[in-house]
Amino acid sequence: MKIGIDKIGFYTPAMYIDTGDLAEARGVEPGKFKVGIGQEKMAVAPKTQDAVTLAANAALNILTQADIDAIDYVIFATETGVDHSKAAGIFAHELLGLKKSARSIEVKQACYSATAGLQIAKGHIALNPDSRVLVLASDISRYGLKTGGEITQGAGAVAMVIARDPKLLTIESPSVYQTDDAMDFWRPLYSDTAHVQGKFSVIQYINFFKDLFAQYQEQTKTSLKDFEALVFHTPYTKMGLKALQSVLEDADEADKKRLLDYYEVGKYYNAIVGNIYTGSLYLNLISLLEQNQTLEAGATVGLFSYGSGSVGEFFTGILQPGYRDHLKKEYHEKLLEEREQISIERYEAVFMDTIPNGVGDIELDIEMDPALICLAGIKNHMRQYVNKQQ
Ligand code: CAA
Repeated sequence: MKIGIDKIGFYTPAMYIDTGDLAEARGVEPGKFKVGIGQEKMAVAPKTQDAVTLAANAALNILTQADIDAIDYVIFATETGVDHSKAAGIFAHELLGLKKSARSIEVKQACYSATAGLQIAKGHIALNPDSRVLVLASDISRYGLKTGGEITQGAGAVAMVIARDPKLLTIESPSVYQTDDAMDFWRPLYSDTAHVQGKFSVIQYINFFKDLFAQYQEQTKTSLKDFEALVFHTPYTKMGLKALQSVLEDADEADKKRLLDYYEVGKYYNAIVGNIYTGSLYLNLISLLEQNQTLEAGATVGLFSYGSGSVGEFFTGILQPGYRDHLKKEYHEKLLEEREQISIERYEAVFMDTIPNGVGDIELDIEMDPALICLAGIKNHMRQYVNKQQ
């Protein structure tokens, strides 16, 4: 049975900053952020958006009534969830009007967990072939103002429907994965910003990719020419490029050119949205699928998933006939075009304007936020979500 990604979409908040403005404000050469880090724009989330609303907004645009009636499993991958106990998937389940006879859970392992969700979904469908599973990957990346990681922030979510006979991409077996207890990036329960050993995180990520890619090729007796394109977990676009370059040193010119050219296409959305943690690999995939002119059905795409801490996985997918007809390219381009560019002063104010810890009651102004699904406030310590369509 063929199982894979039947539908895919993303959502990112309505505001962004230009990384050139950030460079100027921080006294850094713009070339460092634009070329050295490889980021053009960075999404900024208002306090009416959190991991739940971003994910629900991403799902809204891909789900039909038939999907809503069929989805029997919601797997919500996040490392910036909203509750230590209740799964973010339950809030999303309610906001999207899914049927009661569905499971809703939350999974966590830094930026890797959406891949865990995808593989859980695949196993579930293998046992229940008529099932449709909604995998949500949603995060707001916060390192802090004027920190080394500030340039690698962002916000957004990816929503995927996993099903048999998928219209976009099958998820093939085998996949190779590994775990290594490392403190390259983590966020203690008391902190709303991440702790990171930046340089170590880059080394750890590249080593994971090299190891897993080598293991995969050995197991499947494949080589570079067997991959039409590779997509990467992309905290910032220079990072995926470094990983790719690390396996191209001895490659022939044709393989090098093809993989580097497709890398450019895949990085486009990541470069103008920023780091969305769990969804970053899948945003890279959406960009490749929507922005390429040349990938044909039958092409093999390799996917490298990495979550600090660390867990990584390498696997492949095969593009399905007519895949272009099932993408949301126009919607995504419009979403990105219609965002408002804000000043660094306003970004800093939005960044600091968070809901204080422990606040039991607060009302938020959702009219300022064009998103259809928003956080409207907190009552008796319960988050109040609104779908403006309902
Ligand atoms: N023009 C062009 N390039 C320039 C430049 C200029 N004017 N000035 C500097 N550069 C280049 C540098 O040469 C360097 O390039 P290379 O990496 O190719 O050598 C690049 O810009 C970056 O410069 P630095 O290394 O000096 O930058 P930095 O010290 O500020 O650190 C960083 C960069 C480590 C990425 C830092 O931003 C950081 O710590 N970010 C957060 C960590 C992160 O995102 N890690 C990702 C893995 S962890 C993860 O994936 C998260 C997860 O699981 C949840």
